[in-house]
Amino acid sequence: MLSLKAVFAGYGGGNVLQSVDLECAEQTITCIVGPNGAGKSTVLRVISGLLRPSAGEITMDGQAIGDQAPDEILRRGITQVPQSHALFPAMSVHENVLMGGYLIRKNRRLLRDRLELVRERVPLVAERAHDHAGNLSGGQRRMVEIARCLMLDPKVILLDEPSLGLDPRSLAGVADLIHSLNQEGTTVLLVEQNVRLGLGLATHGVVMEGGKVRLTGTAAAIKDDPEIAALYLGGTRASPIPQNTPSTGPETTSV
Ligand SMILES: Nc1ncnc2c1ncn2[C@@H]1O[C@H](COP(=O)(O)OP(=O)(O)O)[C@@H](O)[C@H]1O
Ligand SMILES: [Mg+2]
Repeated sequence: MLSLKAVFAGYGGGNVLQSVDLECAEQTITCIVGPNGAGKSTVLRVISGLLRPSAGEITMDGQAIGDQAPDEILRRGITQVPQSHALFPAMSVHENVLMGGYLIRKNRRLLRDRLELVRERVPLVAERAHDHAGNLSGGQRRMVEIARCLMLDPKVILLDEPSLGLDPRSLAGVADLIHSLNQEGTTVLLVEQNVRLGLGLATHGVVMEGGKVRLTGTAAAIKDDPEIAALYLGGTRASPIPQNTPSTGPETTSV
């Protein structure tokens, strides 16, 4: 469904992504893990069109999207949930969610139907409709951020570290929501520092390091990979995967 082939991309000072290949099949949950600076967020940016690849091919349902603008990529059904603090705190939950329907604002009927769908998929949106977004807990805000993206009924959702800053109980709520969206047919690509949570939720795993994909497989296989287990999942976690770009200096991995 979503595919990257030999993708290179960077920010002006050379390529960060060094020939990245990635496949997300329909209705899978793929989790990208890897040390800080590995290029995980850059992969999401290049898919959502915020960053243009300097080489390689990105396709959605067989159509090239690598040269498309972000709004066109949204229309093709790929949406990125923005990093935290993306809601307007003084506006209601309802108003915040409605803004996710900006691209379809002229079609009142569709907007209403979509809102109804989102309220069903994320009950919090109905329950707390008139509360200011600023009065929600961190986990509830994250759920509303995801709900807002659902106004465009995306085929693929991109999430950059959805667990960031959340307490364990909120984490469970967000993980449940991601899982239920996937069950309803949404394809999910997420980046997670919380490797245990991310791979626990995912069907497929991708390990990145130094702008390259180092390992791909089912999430279970990645979790069971002895090296990954040693580095990320308890035991000896003291040293991150050695970087193959010494010029960037030592990197740290938070788990
Ligand atoms: N806006 C930017 N401008 C310049 N360099 C950036 C920018 N964003 C990220 N980088 C660099 O790209 C590399 C990969 O970053 P990123 O994709 O954010 O890594 P990750 O999400 O895996 O921690 C890092 O070396 C980082 O310094
Ligand atoms: Mg990142």
